[in-house]
Amino acid sequence: MIGTASRDNQEYLRSLGAAATDYGPGLVERVRALAPDGVDAALAVSGEGALADLITLTGSPDRVVSIGDVTAADHGVVFTTGAEGRAFYSLREAVTLAAAGRLTMPVTRALPLAELGEAHRISETGHVRGKLVVVVD
Ligand SMILES: NC(=O)c1ccc[n+]([C@@H]2O[C@H](COP(=O)([O-])OP(=O)(O)OC[C@H]3O[C@@H](n4cnc5c(N)ncnc54)[C@H](OP(=O)(O)O)[C@@H]3O)[C@@H](O)[C@H]2O)c1
Repeated sequence: MIGTASRDNQEYLRSLGAAATDYGPGLVERVRALAPDGVDAALAVSGEGALADLITLTGSPDRVVSIGDVTAADHGVVFTTGAEGRAFYSLREAVTLAAAGRLTMPVTRALPLAELGEAHRISETGHVRGKLVVVVD
């Protein structure tokens, strides 16, 4: 598993068990250095502009899925909102993993509903690690 992040967050990725590298120009070379035998599949969860590199790395558009890059169709890549088929069966597994402490949901910050605007401003920085929680009393 290889994840991309800014330098500040790469140690966090490693703590989750992934190898880590920068996103942006030179991605193909950096990933190949980490995975000389190749990459099976790629999930593009943020930003635009990485899909061509991910197709190069995996060898085919059908090995790439995007949730963040709305130009995916131009590359022959599936863009998903998850609405195509909710994997309800996986909820039981998620609960089991959470109960065992193996699935965690890091919360960056919790804000009251009155500070919803601030929550949006933080989100719009594009560098939130974890979830912003809006608390409704
Ligand atoms: N398809 C759907 O149903 C669906 C649902 C929700 C969200 N989304 C989309 O999913 C994406 C992620 O949403 P999010 O809420 O997690 O917030 P986000 O603020 O867009 O993403 C935050 C993370 O993305 C990383 N990042 C920033 N620029 C990047 C780049 N050029 N390449 C790779 N990573 C980059 C940041 O890492 P660093 O801080 O380390 O830079 C940060 O950890 C957004 O594009 C959002 O629109 C899609």
